[in-house]
Amino acid sequence: LNLSVASSGGNATSPLQYGLMFEDINHSGDGGIYAELIQNRAFQGSSVFPSNLSAWGSVGGDTLSLQNLSNPVSSALPTSVNVAVSNGTTGQVGLSNTGWWGFDVQVQDYKGSFYVHGTYNGSFTISLVSNLTNTTFGSVNVPVSSTKDGWTQYNYTLTPSMAAPNSNNTFILTFDAACATDGSLDFNLISLFPPTYKNRENGNRVDLMEALAGLNPSFLRLPGGNNLEGNDPPYLWYWNQTLGPLKDRPGRPGTWGYQNTDGLGLIEYLYWCQDLGIEPILAVWSGLYLDGTIIPNGTIDTYVQYALDELEFLMGDASTTYGAQRIALGYPDPFQINYVEVGNEDNLNNGLESYQDYRLPAFYDAITSAYPNITIIASTIALDPFPGNSSGDYHQYTRPDFFVSQFNFFDNYTSEHPILIGEYATLQPNAPGNPGANFSAPRPPFPFWIGSIAECVFLIGAERNADKIIGASYAPTFQNLNSYQWVPDMISYTADASQDVMSTSWHTVSFLSSTRMTSTLPITNNATAAVGPVYYVAGENADTGSSIFKAAVYNSSGDVPVSITFAGVAAGTKANLTVLTADDPSAYNQPGSDNVVNTQSTSVTADGNGAFSFSLPDLSVAILETESG
Ligand code: AHR
Repeated sequence: LNLSVASSGGNATSPLQYGLMFEDINHSGDGGIYAELIQNRAFQGSSVFPSNLSAWGSVGGDTLSLQNLSNPVSSALPTSVNVAVSNGTTGQVGLSNTGWWGFDVQVQDYKGSFYVHGTYNGSFTISLVSNLTNTTFGSVNVPVSSTKDGWTQYNYTLTPSMAAPNSNNTFILTFDAACATDGSLDFNLISLFPPTYKNRENGNRVDLMEALAGLNPSFLRLPGGNNLEGNDPPYLWYWNQTLGPLKDRPGRPGTWGYQNTDGLGLIEYLYWCQDLGIEPILAVWSGLYLDGTIIPNGTIDTYVQYALDELEFLMGDASTTYGAQRIALGYPDPFQINYVEVGNEDNLNNGLESYQDYRLPAFYDAITSAYPNITIIASTIALDPFPGNSSGDYHQYTRPDFFVSQFNFFDNYTSEHPILIGEYATLQPNAPGNPGANFSAPRPPFPFWIGSIAECVFLIGAERNADKIIGASYAPTFQNLNSYQWVPDMISYTADASQDVMSTSWHTVSFLSSTRMTSTLPITNNATAAVGPVYYVAGENADTGSSIFKAAVYNSSGDVPVSITFAGVAAGTKANLTVLTADDPSAYNQPGSDNVVNTQSTSVTADGNGAFSFSLPDLSVAILETESG
């Protein structure tokens, strides 16, 4: 393969290019990146997922029951747990929590709090204890003086004196039965946080945020996905119920089989963006539930206004109703929203006609007239016409060969309505006839190498079309290995951070994302006009002054020799060549295994004709970048 790269004539790339998609699926929020360690901390429920005592147990022979007291902690948290002590019981009694399938105990400060109601004078003991050996790794005594007149909140810091060897541990809160003179106590919002990323209060898990930072992302698409839409009325994602003190957040039935606490709410999402230095792509509800319920034309304005209120809440100043609300909640500085996606997959569930006819236009007109600088992204590219200069979101879950066949997919697309590839993933291995994915057939548990390479071919196809693509995000991002609804996922984990799995697709995305072109450059192929088995893009980075070549090899019969010149790059110039391979096309990373992705870096020097020569093996992804200066 002999390639010549011109020095001009390409297209500027999007500043976003590679990013993240997040929704609470697979316990990726509660039980995932949201660092709260107590499962079912506030007994939140709904008619879909009624309040329950899941994850809680009694300690010392007491009896736990759910109660809806006439004076709850808050109207948002009507249900609490009553811990009843039988007559004559002495000693320590209380309740235990399993956590999100265990607790990772380290020697560090854990910040906790709880609300209690009932007569008590004495102290509570809070501990983290091994399920296997009964070892107490840490405990703290909290002096408590509470009454039955109301709820009192207590804060505590628990600092274990030793780390636990594994996460098979329990949280235990006990009190002296003799001091509970009325025979029972009520509890709610029992919380425990480890140190969080950038020490955010109510923040995110450090290991998982570091895993995201390792992808070098530029945007976060939030809060879904299906979880934005809601399964059926009235369970859309209500931004204004995810704000303020945790006691004021009722939670909601998520679309993935469990109640969401909404502790990870709108403000937390935006802090997440700030902490990674990335752009929020804020999705607003567009009038379509997953069961196909569509808001009619006459009523859609209510939801358009709801989206406008959300934008005012985030960006407004003190003179605005919702800006003032944000300030009153303790967030004086406005956030900046530059991208709004209207809905999610509105081409599905019979949504397309109404989306095209009135739903999308209503959102587009209202938002762009209030905020002319906001880019509106439609949740599909199946539109004719697109409103104004809106963009579209393209999702693709498929098989390796199909992704490779989409290398040219964007070539004939218009640059007037650039595309966000808001979700993509290789779901299943190849099958005869090059079909797309079969969503009801089995899927591999983790991204696998040939799939990750096929994704690279697709992504390089997107990079070649720099003027037509906003960026791309793999989905889903996260999987709690103890409870999940969707495989494969980019990052998998348990409570024990040492078991985190960075999938093969994590490695390939991190690789492609970490070397950015500021513009593409045209390439002439002197050997053959055929596309493949090497799929490539070339360009430059104006900030570093480097010339860049990215390539993925798919289905070659052996190593492919490549010779490439960049106009203006002199003989003797050095370049770094990094190549990612794996030994087996179906290899995947899994907990406790060695990383199956091999990374090899070499230095290549341009010959007397300015050509860099090297060869690339089958099922590899490579980047050649000239050294700057
Ligand atoms: O990523 C999983 C789901 O796939 C998303 O919620 C939805 O947008 C898509 O269909």
